[in-house]
Amino acid sequence: TMRTTQKQWLEALSVSYYVFTFLFMGLFFSLLVLFLLFTSFWSISVLYLVWLFLDWDTPNQGGRCFECNRSCTIWKHLKDYFPIKLVKTAELPPDRNYVVGCHPHGIMCMGTFCNFFTEANNFSKQFPGIQTSPVTLAFLLHLPVYRDYLMYLGLCSVNRRSLDFILSKPQPGQAVAIVVGGAHESLFAIPGMHCLVLRNRKGFVRLALRHGASLVPVYSFGENDIFNFKAFPTNSWQYLCQITIKKIMKFSPCIFWGRGLFSADSWGLLPFAKPITTVVGRPIPVPQRLNPTEEEVDHYHMLYMEALEQLFEEHKESCGVPASTHLIFK
Ligand SMILES: *[C@@H]1O[C@H](CO)[C@@H](O)[C@H](O)[C@H]1NC(C)=O
Ligand SMILES: *[C@@H]1O[C@H](CO)[C@@H](O)[C@H](O)[C@H]1NC(C)=O
Repeated sequence: TMRTTQKQWLEALSVSYYVFTFLFMGLFFSLLVLFLLFTSFWSISVLYLVWLFLDWDTPNQGGRCFECNRSCTIWKHLKDYFPIKLVKTAELPPDRNYVVGCHPHGIMCMGTFCNFFTEANNFSKQFPGIQTSPVTLAFLLHLPVYRDYLMYLGLCSVNRRSLDFILSKPQPGQAVAIVVGGAHESLFAIPGMHCLVLRNRKGFVRLALRHGASLVPVYSFGENDIFNFKAFPTNSWQYLCQITIKKIMKFSPCIFWGRGLFSADSWGLLPFAKPITTVVGRPIPVPQRLNPTEEEVDHYHMLYMEALEQLFEEHKESCGVPASTHLIFK
């Protein structure tokens, strides 16, 4: 009917907007500011660059103070497109802080974004008193105009100073949501695979120990299934190129494709409409240690990996993952 068609269009457009934001918006505005410098509108770029200079450190200091509206209807349409679900398995009492590990990165962190950065699934009603601070790579928060938009969405830098700032706020109930595997993990966003870059990523555990913040494992089933993906063996020259570019540029150049905007049968950058289920695990209490030892970090890192594995095993079959599939830690 007319109504469902209109709804489908709104969903596809909302997802297209997210894809544009994720992949191209930073580049688009950087080029625009550069381009305007060479036109008669150069003063706009100069004024912007002065603003950028004055505002340089804001992403490390909790980002923007104003309350951004996470209830924007775009995100509801984005959620309905797949659809994306949020499953709560335990309470997060608001009397302490949390370091939330979100897995996997996938190509575009769709489940993590939708559930933790927006109210599309009523996160703040499901976890009352919890203030989530989504974080991202610091360099994205230096790109002209894009940074202002990301900070409007509530993002802060993922570096130590910024995270310490958030977890030191006087009000408890702070939760930083970190996609632990980062861009490296997007090289394993293979449909049907559940491969995490986690074995040697311990900074988030050290952070939790320094602040006595509980660790919360989160897994988004289906995140790796929304795009087709060309994977290269880890001993191939293509993979070596991807890793090298990732080290220099901070993003992984991967080859992926989805559907077109106008038809599910054509090729394009729109993800496939497959369900994503984000399961929030039970918090792991962590004591506060101002200078955690390597043994303490390893201990809680191990507890975290076990809890994540258990979460995966308990929920995989209800999310359509075969019983024979297990998590792989890289
Ligand atoms: C946020 O937006 C929604 C709809 O888009 C609106 O209903 C709500 O009142 C807004 N909230 C705030 C705090 O502005
Ligand atoms: C979120 O809450 C609103 C208002 O209480 C409700 O109408 C809506 O169905 C809820 N959405 C989800 C995904 O639970």
